[in-house]
Amino acid sequence: MGCQPNLSDDPIPIVPFPDFVINLSAPEYQPLNINGGYKEIGSIGVRGVIVYRQDASTYRAFERNCTFRPNEACATVNVHSSSLFMIDPCCNSSFSFTNGAPTGGSASRPLRQYEITLAGTQLTITDTILN
Ligand code: FES
Repeated sequence: MGCQPNLSDDPIPIVPFPDFVINLSAPEYQPLNINGGYKEIGSIGVRGVIVYRQDASTYRAFERNCTFRPNEACATVNVHSSSLFMIDPCCNSSFSFTNGAPTGGSASRPLRQYEITLAGTQLTITDTILN
């Protein structure tokens, strides 16, 4: 297994989803109240979304479908055990939490980012693609 060189830049599928609302006061979302905290949401996006808190007013929503060979069965990005960056176990492409840019491995395209807005203690993720 492992990924062969991607000569075609396969497009990442687009899967529309209804707005997803997160109540930051809910126990299951406590990690999103800490800078550097994250939460995986499996029910939206192509292969799920990683929500990341950079600071109190900055959140990001990353599509987990790897951008290197998005159609590979294993092309799902996880948060690295250090919690400092994201990584695809498929062939070890790594991605920054700051902007989803590749930081290592074979990938050359950044992770897709979805629109995420904060209003009080409520985060809303839409299927609007930002990049
Ligand atoms: S598909 Fe191989 S690193 Fe993502």
